[in-house]
Amino acid sequence: MEEKLVILDYGSQYTHLIARRVREQNVYSEVHPPEIAMEDIVDFDSVKGIILSGGPMSVYDEEAPTVPSWVFECGLPILGICYGMQAIVHQLGGKVEPGEAREYGLASLIIEDSTETIFSQIPSQSSVWMSHGDKVVKLPPQFKSLAQTDNTEYCVISSGNQMYGIQFHPEVNHTSYGETFITNFLVQVCKFSQNWDSGRFIESSMVSLKEQLGASKVVCALSGGVDSAVTAALLHHAVGDQLKCIFVNNGLLRLDEENEVREIFKDVLNVDINYLDASKRFIDKLQGIVDPEIKRKTIGYEFIKCFEEETDKLGGVEFLAQGTLYPDVIESVSTVGKAAVIKTHHNVGGLPENMQLKLVEPLRYLFKDEVRKVGLELGLPPNIIHRQPFPGPGLAIRIIGEITKEKLDILKLCDRIVTDELAKSDCYEEIWQGFAVLTDSHTVGVMGDFRTYGYVCALRIVSSEDAMTANWVKVPYEVLETISSRIVNEVSGVNRVVYDITNKPPGTIEWE
Ligand code: XMP
Repeated sequence: MEEKLVILDYGSQYTHLIARRVREQNVYSEVHPPEIAMEDIVDFDSVKGIILSGGPMSVYDEEAPTVPSWVFECGLPILGICYGMQAIVHQLGGKVEPGEAREYGLASLIIEDSTETIFSQIPSQSSVWMSHGDKVVKLPPQFKSLAQTDNTEYCVISSGNQMYGIQFHPEVNHTSYGETFITNFLVQVCKFSQNWDSGRFIESSMVSLKEQLGASKVVCALSGGVDSAVTAALLHHAVGDQLKCIFVNNGLLRLDEENEVREIFKDVLNVDINYLDASKRFIDKLQGIVDPEIKRKTIGYEFIKCFEEETDKLGGVEFLAQGTLYPDVIESVSTVGKAAVIKTHHNVGGLPENMQLKLVEPLRYLFKDEVRKVGLELGLPPNIIHRQPFPGPGLAIRIIGEITKEKLDILKLCDRIVTDELAKSDCYEEIWQGFAVLTDSHTVGVMGDFRTYGYVCALRIVSSEDAMTANWVKVPYEVLETISSRIVNEVSGVNRVVYDITNKPPGTIEWE
């Protein structure tokens, strides 16, 4: 049984960061809503500590979430952060009051007693990040103050019995010793052995997947992307041929991608794929459509039809595997239910809702970089693992205007050149996505002694953390020059290349 930390999410925008920081210390963590019952936490015996996150509410708000009584009764180490601390104080007989002004930003933390293990390796004065309105003005019985700032008398408090409260945010980078503080709580107080890694994740997944699936068939839609590839590899490892993979070639994939994906699964992982070449069918359906949203809907609808048809052919399938990742799960915990549907459906590009399949999401507790590690450990080749994100509607939203076979063939060649040249360049690490867009403009050019009239190809190369915002990358001129001359020379039909220098916002990453 895996040791784990439970994080109760009071709605802070930083909750995912807490989970992240804990994982970075090789400790497995799970985020749950505060109203969860102890019995609903799987393997509660393996929980070694609890963190209560911050949150936007005041403990006096009508709907303010509380700390469940089992948290106080279970005898485990507890760390309340910001709202989490205030909720502890409020419920255990101390006093929280609205602060005169919201305190936001850096403050200097002064430790009163450096011998406390929670402060191990932390200097007596250091910078911490604050973001709160209410503040604690009276401690509950038995609690004592361990550290303060100029504005906050009770900045770190302890019950003397493994229960801590802190007003600052150790999970954000601005807190200079935040990582040390979290590590101290995990290691010194909770006594975690810090041995959680991708190998252990695979081992424990084997057990739980076998248990969940029994002898049932499970179907997984492959897209060529990292998440679905790792999901399939993990399931295959756990239940072998009970896994049925469906790979729909919608004709909108990158150059040769349909063959690459099939080869990898067949040769490297020894997984049989139910391959459906629906490229003609998709291109026929897209005929005459220029509106980006109608393109998306048409592709989504057609995908569902193909997937349903293939699943029906398989017969007796009970489970549907999805590559949902932890950030999606955390988001859906905070927003209680609503976001879950949108996100999970998004993963396979529109899920067949009426198929009545049970969901299996083996990656739902992993972050993207952890998924990559698991994938490598399972033997997936680095070129699949380090792929850039690729939209479900594929090249369709990178061809402006109507989609034709001719335009798709042109764009695939341009895209391959962009990908190859960027992979060779020094700026590759910086790039979130780098690709070609086929505009519907034609311009005049000259090649040799001849006048040409060809498409304008645009390059979109951006850096980003999470695709919510993005910046265009200052790719060295030499790299841009090579890409441009290779495209114009090697791709017939294109005679001009332009570089998109729009950030997001106001632009989006994709052109459509
Ligand atoms: P935008 O263009 O909105 O893209 O800045 C943000 C990220 O989402 C990807 N993207 C999509 N992914 N279906 C997907 O699965 C879509 O319809 C879609 N549209 C955009 C885009 O590639 C980028 O990573």
